[in-house]
Amino acid sequence: MTEHQDSLILNLFWKNPKRVMYYKVSCLRLVIADFKKSYRIGYMNSRIVKVVIGVFFWSSLWVLSSLYADDNTPSGSFAVEKANALRNPYADDGGPRTLDVSAYPPEMQKIYRELFIPKCSRCHTAARPINSSFVEPSGSSEEKRTKITRWQKEQPELFKNPQIWTVDERLWNQYVKRMKLKAGADLTLEDAKSIWKFLCYDSEKRKTGASAKKWAEHRRQLLADFKASHPDRYHELYGLE
Ligand code: HEC
Repeated sequence: MTEHQDSLILNLFWKNPKRVMYYKVSCLRLVIADFKKSYRIGYMNSRIVKVVIGVFFWSSLWVLSSLYADDNTPSGSFAVEKANALRNPYADDGGPRTLDVSAYPPEMQKIYRELFIPKCSRCHTAARPINSSFVEPSGSSEEKRTKITRWQKEQPELFKNPQIWTVDERLWNQYVKRMKLKAGADLTLEDAKSIWKFLCYDSEKRKTGASAKKWAEHRRQLLADFKASHPDRYHELYGLE
């Protein structure tokens, strides 16, 4: 077995708090059983040695498990991700958490209801993706590129301020992938693809073309409110002005 496999197995094993607990308990039981037995038989030396070994083994397990429970290990827990998501707010969080999708095609309504809202509200609220500046056009890669080229000519304002519109042909794709990789995200590849498709359709419809002006007003207001309520975080995220 390679060193890498070794450390992977060790990591998986000790990362599981139930296993660690189980081990601690069984070690303690062994030590107690042994203590009782040797007390009855009466050989003091071996008893002391075994108790010392038991305590040593037990405490090294504890040290190991706390080392591997570090937040920075790649497989952090769902609770850690959720805490991260809530500790660092975004301007997006202050906006609405639901959308009126009654005019969307039935397929998009279904994804919104059955996947987007439940899956994307587990760590932060759905306000974070709903009010995000991210825009990715819908369609095939080819269609996405064509749309962006057309927008550059016909709606140059979409490219002037990334705090209002961040336009990219793979932006939602990358972000849904990023969220999928988080511990406890509970997203299958199919779920993630559907949500990605929905976010492209929705961001194009609600943030560009005839809706662009309304979107810009909404997003500017969110940023102004966030600057007033969280000045330090505002500067960290959106610049110094
Ligand atoms: C397991 C927890 C978790 C789940 C589930 C989750 N997120 Fe997130 N999300 C986070 C965290 C943590 C952040 C903070 C930034 C980061 O780590 O990327 C975040 C940040 C974001 C941002 C802000 C990005 C930015 O830079 O402006 C968006 C947008 C987002 N999530 C969308 C989604 C979508 C869409 C879904 C559903 C597919 C989702 N999230 C599900 C944890 C989660």
